[in-house]
Amino acid sequence: MKTAAPSSHFLDLKDLPSEVLRHILDTAKVWKTARAGLPKGALDEGAPLAGHTLAMIFEKSSTRTRISFEMAMHQLGGSSVVLQGAAMQLGRGESVADTARVISRYVDAVMVRANDHATLVELAKAGTVPVINALTDRSHPCQLMADMLTLEERIGPMQGRKVAWVGDGNNVATSLIEAATRFDFSLTLACPEGYMPSADAVAWAKAEGGDITVGSDPIEAVAGADAVITDTWVSMGDGGGDVRMNAFKPFQVTEELMKKASADAVFLHCLPAHRGEEVATSVIDGPQSAVWDEAENRLHAQKAILAWCLGKI
Ligand code: CP
Ligand code: NVA
Repeated sequence: MKTAAPSSHFLDLKDLPSEVLRHILDTAKVWKTARAGLPKGALDEGAPLAGHTLAMIFEKSSTRTRISFEMAMHQLGGSSVVLQGAAMQLGRGESVADTARVISRYVDAVMVRANDHATLVELAKAGTVPVINALTDRSHPCQLMADMLTLEERIGPMQGRKVAWVGDGNNVATSLIEAATRFDFSLTLACPEGYMPSADAVAWAKAEGGDITVGSDPIEAVAGADAVITDTWVSMGDGGGDVRMNAFKPFQVTEELMKKASADAVFLHCLPAHRGEEVATSVIDGPQSAVWDEAENRLHAQKAILAWCLGKI
């Protein structure tokens, strides 16, 4: 199935129909299976992105996103250029629009990790090549594609399943709300007062028929859940401090909390993790945790995202 126009952006899950997201995930699964046992640097059959180059712009730190996108391009037969936003002219005032126009003359796609979601949107508007959201203050859609891949590997189809989010109503939570709506599972979020998920994202999900519940009780949220997901209490760009940390203390994912979920519930965390804060060591390093598969699946999911953006699947 070829669903992509030659130049499709991957900005947010809400922008794409469920069928396109399904097609991307199915491709990721097939390609992941086909690579089993191959060296990590081996090219995929047919090298579908041969001759294509991805520019990667980072305004914030990254480990997983940086390496998985670079390896994704390599395995697909393409190449990548890594750019730190602060070291670019962008960092000293060249406009996002001019940057987008120039980069579009050199490369076939741009991935950006931006402080401000508006930068991502402007890049996509002014450039002429596909743009991929690799995390902004608003959302982290590539992460959720990897999370969906991981959950489907562990517990099968997600339609009708129950997922709980415990912690900060942050960028990852926004993409989870969009994923729940597009992949048709029920989502309950438990967040401290003052750290609730984006009201716009929740309103969008409800208007689309999404089954989203927002509250402040972790026990209620995880009751019977098939998956429990959390993230750092202090995202990049957020201020820390005692007031914030105290508000989050009752929201740690502990063994006791996991016992309220379904017996075989999966624990996910996009990483980096802070053991003893948002998650107890015994949970993230315990048998229900799928965080290492989740991190690996960034690579597989992004390969399919890249191929879709470039009209190859
Ligand atoms: N989960 C994630 O995006 O990790 P990095 O910040 O290391 O890229
Ligand atoms: N919510 C975190 C995710 C990091 C991958 C952040 O934005 O810092």
